[in-house]
Amino acid sequence: MPTKTITTNGTAPDNYYPGLEGIIAEETRLSLIDGLKGKLIIAGFPLEEIAERASFEEMVYLLWHDRLPTAAELTDFQTSIRQFQTLPDATVQLLQAVAEANKPVMDALRIGAGTLDIDLPVNAGIEERAALLLARMPTVVATYWRLRHGQAPVQPNPEAGFAENYLAMLFGEEPSPSQIRGMETYLNTVIEHGLNASTFSARVIIATQTDLTSAIVGAIGALKGPLHGGAPGPALDTVFEIGTPERAESVLREKLERSERLMGFGHRVYKVYDPRAAVLSRAAQRLFEEDGDSELYLLAQHVEEVAIKLLEEAKPGRNLQTNVEFYTALLLHGIGLDTELFTPTFAISRTGGWLAHCMEHLAGGRLIRPKARYTGDQNRAWVPIAVR
Ligand code: ACO
Repeated sequence: MPTKTITTNGTAPDNYYPGLEGIIAEETRLSLIDGLKGKLIIAGFPLEEIAERASFEEMVYLLWHDRLPTAAELTDFQTSIRQFQTLPDATVQLLQAVAEANKPVMDALRIGAGTLDIDLPVNAGIEERAALLLARMPTVVATYWRLRHGQAPVQPNPEAGFAENYLAMLFGEEPSPSQIRGMETYLNTVIEHGLNASTFSARVIIATQTDLTSAIVGAIGALKGPLHGGAPGPALDTVFEIGTPERAESVLREKLERSERLMGFGHRVYKVYDPRAAVLSRAAQRLFEEDGDSELYLLAQHVEEVAIKLLEEAKPGRNLQTNVEFYTALLLHGIGLDTELFTPTFAISRTGGWLAHCMEHLAGGRLIRPKARYTGDQNRAWVPIAVR
């Protein structure tokens, strides 16, 4: 970790941690990440114990309440979300204008998200606000996607689960059970991952005791950047570029010889196989076996094996392994999502985690206010504009 020690006024040294790397700035009960053991615990559950079993609503309830719901509590929770799924007319009109400007989906989500509480009374409680934001995120993405493609938006179905509804609103037809299960597993797998950039942004914003909508809009803005949420598309492009198993080694070798990074491999925190990749790989395998093209899954598996072997040759001892993006791309593609929908779908899931962090912070967190090290001049003299 790069650190520099500087001295202010000749007194106590101020340690400088660029990007706050390695600094523990919060306490949380929401997730534990052990990057050396490849372990991810979400609210007490190892990821692989829960991601393939829970519904997304159960997963959100767990994060918000620190326990799984009973059947009756789950029904109430689903009702509290479903009552808000339909967008305010003003949001739909705004999304129509954004579609006419042909903006990317993440821009539309950022623009639309700020309007979602327009019909909520000012004195609404925190959990009502959270339910509204969570409920409307998939509706914004699906509505915008259809408007931008000249299709009429599909209204949410108050009888359907969260993942099913999202797919039905996107596709305009009922998704298959394996598409729904695949989407549910994806949403559960990426809902929460510690103090990543978007979650930290949400906590910084809510720490000023502003409203939840402001925190979620800020988090979407952070997730939109290519260094955070924007990478699964290129991982899929590489698999398509390879096309057949016998080309894997030559294509990947050439990329490494050109000093290109192999997309979907390596991670800042995980120095072993990313546990989310293992869960998503199983989900993708199930989906491709049940619904589609096992050949693509087998090709991806082969690409993965070759990539790990070549990375070990190129960077011995680094143990560069598969990260979450590789099988995210394959799974979401198998479900039928366009590449441009990968990051917005990540945002839909992560909203559950962002809101959990906001509620956790409001329950006792401090205003977040690090310091900056000043590098400018200190003794400038005023020069009148006429003589500058
Ligand atoms: N392909 C080739 N070489 C790699 C890769 C890769 N995928 N990942 C790391 N390396 C090499 C680097 O070239 C570097 O080598 P060097 O020290 O000889 O120059 C070394 O491994 C360490 O790389 P860093 O970038 O310092 O490692 P860091 O931990 O910061 O990188 C990162 C993590 C950015 C994810 C990197 O592994 C990468 O670029 N991967 C490809 C892109 C990708 O898959 N991104 C999604 C990540 S998952 C997520 O963000 C949700």
